[in-house]
Amino acid sequence: MRDTGPMEHPAKFSDDDFILFRDLLSQETGIYFSHDRKQHLQMALDERLSQGRYESYREYYHFIQSHPKRQEEVRHLIELITVGETSFFRNGPHFAALMNTVLPEIMEREKNKPRKTIRIWSAGCSRGSEPYSIAIALKETAPSLHDWDISIFATDINQRVLDLARDGFYALRDLSHMPEEYIRRYFHKNDQHYQLVDQIKKCVKFGCHNLVKSSFRIPELRDLDIIFCRNVTIYFDLQTTKRIVEQFYDCLNDGGYLFIGHAETLWQITDKYALMEFPQAYIYKKTKERMETKSLSPFAGVPEIPLGIVRPEPTISISPEKKNRICKDADLRKPFAAHPQAKTRLAQATLLANQAQYEEAIRQLEGIVKDDSLCQEAYYLLGVLYYNAGLYDQAVAQFRKVIYIDHGAALAYFNLGNIYLHQKKMSSAQKEFENVRRLLEKRRPEEMVEFSNDFIADYLLRACENNLAKIAKSLV
Ligand SMILES: C[S@@+](CC[C@H](N)C(=O)[O-])C[C@H]1O[C@@H](n2cnc3c(N)ncnc32)[C@H](O)[C@@H]1O
Repeated sequence: MRDTGPMEHPAKFSDDDFILFRDLLSQETGIYFSHDRKQHLQMALDERLSQGRYESYREYYHFIQSHPKRQEEVRHLIELITVGETSFFRNGPHFAALMNTVLPEIMEREKNKPRKTIRIWSAGCSRGSEPYSIAIALKETAPSLHDWDISIFATDINQRVLDLARDGFYALRDLSHMPEEYIRRYFHKNDQHYQLVDQIKKCVKFGCHNLVKSSFRIPELRDLDIIFCRNVTIYFDLQTTKRIVEQFYDCLNDGGYLFIGHAETLWQITDKYALMEFPQAYIYKKTKERMETKSLSPFAGVPEIPLGIVRPEPTISISPEKKNRICKDADLRKPFAAHPQAKTRLAQATLLANQAQYEEAIRQLEGIVKDDSLCQEAYYLLGVLYYNAGLYDQAVAQFRKVIYIDHGAALAYFNLGNIYLHQKKMSSAQKEFENVRRLLEKRRPEEMVEFSNDFIADYLLRACENNLAKIAKSLV
C-alpha cells in the first residue's frame, strides 16, 4: 500500500483481475458484471483505488478478501456499483393495480379480523421513492386506517441511499410520474427541493438488508401481503434471482402479491406464482390455483403508456375481448416526428390509446403512416398496439419498419425478440436480443432509450442479457 495522497491508475485491469472482482461482487451483492460491463466495474474500482492508495487491483482485492475492515470497504464499493435509478409512482399501472385491486382485496380479507394488518416490503428501495409511493397509495386508497396495524418495511444494500431516503428530500424529476395533486398534498416545496411530509415519512421503516446475504427470517419479513422488488434482480444472475424469488414466496401470505420490474419476468425462474394480468401491468400472486404454463411466457417489457394513476375497473382475470383492448407498455409521450401535422395527429392517437380506444388509435396511426411513410413513432406505436392485441405478424411488420427507418432503434429489436419468444422461435429471438446488445454496448449506460419512458441503456441491456441467458438455458 502507498502511504500518501490519491494516485492516478496506470495499472492494467487484466481479464484475470476482472474475473476476481466479478466473482467477489457477485457473491457479496448478487450483482453480476458481464464482460461488456468490465469498464463500468473498473471505473468504480479506480475510484476506491485512488482513495485507498493501493498499488494495484490485485492488492486491493487481497485487502478486501482478508482485512478486518473489509466489510467497511465492501460497503464503499457497493455504493459505487449499485444503480439507484428510481422515481415516485414509477410504472403507473403497477400503482393503479395496487390501489384499485390489490389493496382493496387485502382490506376486504382483513376487515373482520380482530387484528387487521397490511404488511408490505419494498426490497431494493433505493432513495425511498418506491416505499413512500406505496404509503401515499395506501393513504389515497383508505384515508382512515387508524385501527389497522400497517407495516411498510423498505430495505436496500446501499447505506447511502437509505440515509437519503430517511431525509425525504427529492428533486422535481423524481416526481415526474406523480399526479400533481399528490405533489401538492404530500410535499413542501423548499428552494430547489421537495420535502416529503412527516405524515408519509413516518409510515415507512428503513433498514439495511442484502438480498443475497441477509436473513429473510426476521420479524419484519414475516406474513407479508405485498413485496415490491422492482428493477433489482435484473442485475443478478438467474440462480441468484431464483433463490431470492423463492425466499419471497416463503415470506408471503397465501394470496400475497409480488411486484417485479416491467422488463422482468419469472419465466424460467419459478412457476410457483400465478401471473395476474392487469391493464398494462403483470403482477405475480402466491396462490394455490394451478398456474397455466402459458402465463409463464415472457412478455414485452417496454415502458408503460404514461397514464399516471389510472383507475381501471378492479379486475384480476380479464376476458379475451378486454385483453385485446389492452395496450400495455408504450411511451407515447416521446417527442414526435418533425412534421407538425403528424405531431398533432400522433398526439391524438396517443390520447386515444391512453383512453383504451385502441381501434380508433390504430385507425389514426394507419392514416398518419399513409401520409408520412417515414413516421417511425407511428409505426412503433402501431407495433405495440398490434402486439398487445395478439396480432404478432402485423406487429413484427411495424417494428421492422421502425428499424428500416432507424437501424439503431433498440427497443424495436427488443420487442421483436419478445414476440419471437412468445412464438417460441428461440433462434430468431436470440438474434434480435443480440442486435439490441450490439446497439446498446455502444451507448452510455445511463442514456435513455428511444421510445421509452424510463429505460436507461444499461437496464435494457441487462434485460436482453437475462433473456439471452434464459434462451441458452431453454436450448440445452
Ligand atoms: C434500480 S434501483 C430500484 C429502486 C426501486 N425498486 C425502483 O424500481 O424504483 C435498484 C436498487 O437495488 C439495490 N440493490 C442491489 N443489490 C442489492 C442487494 N443484494 N440487496 C438489496 N438491495 C440491492 C440497489 O442498491 C438499488 O438501490
